[in-house]
Amino acid sequence: MIRVAVAGAAGRMGEAVCAAVTDAADMELVGRADPALGTTLEEVLTGTEPPDVVVDFTRPDTALGNALSCVRAGVHVVVGTTGFDPAPLGQARPADGRPRANVLIAPNFAIGAVLMMRFAAEAAKHMAKAEIIELHHDQKLDAPSGTAARTASLMDGDVPIHSVRLPGLVAHHEVILGDVGQTLTIRHDSTDRTSFMPGVLLAVRRVATLERSPTIGLEHLL
Ligand SMILES: NC(=O)c1ccc[n+]([C@@H]2O[C@H](COP(=O)([O-])OP(=O)(O)OC[C@H]3O[C@@H](n4cnc5c(N)ncnc54)[C@H](O)[C@@H]3O)[C@@H](O)[C@H]2O)c1
Repeated sequence: MIRVAVAGAAGRMGEAVCAAVTDAADMELVGRADPALGTTLEEVLTGTEPPDVVVDFTRPDTALGNALSCVRAGVHVVVGTTGFDPAPLGQARPADGRPRANVLIAPNFAIGAVLMMRFAAEAAKHMAKAEIIELHHDQKLDAPSGTAARTASLMDGDVPIHSVRLPGLVAHHEVILGDVGQTLTIRHDSTDRTSFMPGVLLAVRRVATLERSPTIGLEHLL
C-alpha cells in the first residue's frame, strides 16, 4: 500500500484527490493538510503515520514551500499547483538521515490536455503563427494557466496567451494556429475534476521511481 497525504485537502482539487486515493485499492489516505481543516503539512509529515507521497493542490504562494518541506522530510511529492517557479527544487536535498525524495510537477494531469500539448507542439512546426485562449472558473488565482504557459513553451515561435475567467467554467484550452488561407484549432475541455484523477494516481504510483527530480510534465510517465 502507498501511504498518501494530500495538501490542500479541503480545496476543490484536494477533495477530489482524497476521494480518488480512498477508492484506489493500492493506496491509503493517511493525512489531510489544510488550514481550513486545522492541520498543517508539517504535522502530517511528522505524525505517527507519515506518508510515502504527498499530493499538493494548494496555492501558488505555498506550493514551493510545501514541496521543499516534503523533500527535506524524505517524502516524495506530486505537485499539481500552478503559477509558481519550481527552480529552487533543483537544489532541494533531504535532511540528514532522510531518504532521497522525488518531485513530480504537472501543470495538467488530464491525458487529453497532455495530448493537446503534444499536438500543438507538432502543429507549430508547420504553421506560421499561433495563439492560445485558456478559460477557467473565476476562483482560479493564477493567469495565464500553467497548462497554457507550458503549451506555449513547447511550441516554436512567440505564442500569445489570452485568459478568460468566468463562473461555470472548469478548465479549457484552445490553441489556434493560422497560416495562409487556413486555421487549425486544437481544443481540450476538462468538464469535471475527475478528468485529472487517473493522471494524479499514476503520478503517485510512479514518483518514487523517477530518475530525474524535479520531473515536469505527466508525459514523462506515459
Ligand atoms: N495540475 C492540474 O491538473 C490542475 C488541475 C486543476 C487545478 N490545478 C491547480 O491546483 C491548485 C488548487 O486548485 P483548487 O481549485 O483546488 O483551489 P482551492 O482554492 O479550491 O483549494 C486550495 C486549498 O489549499 C488550501 N491551502 C492553502 N494554503 C495551504 C497550505 N500551506 N497547506 C495546505 N493547504 C493549503 C486552501 O485552504 C484550500 O482549501 C491551483 O493552483 C490550480 O491552478 C491544477
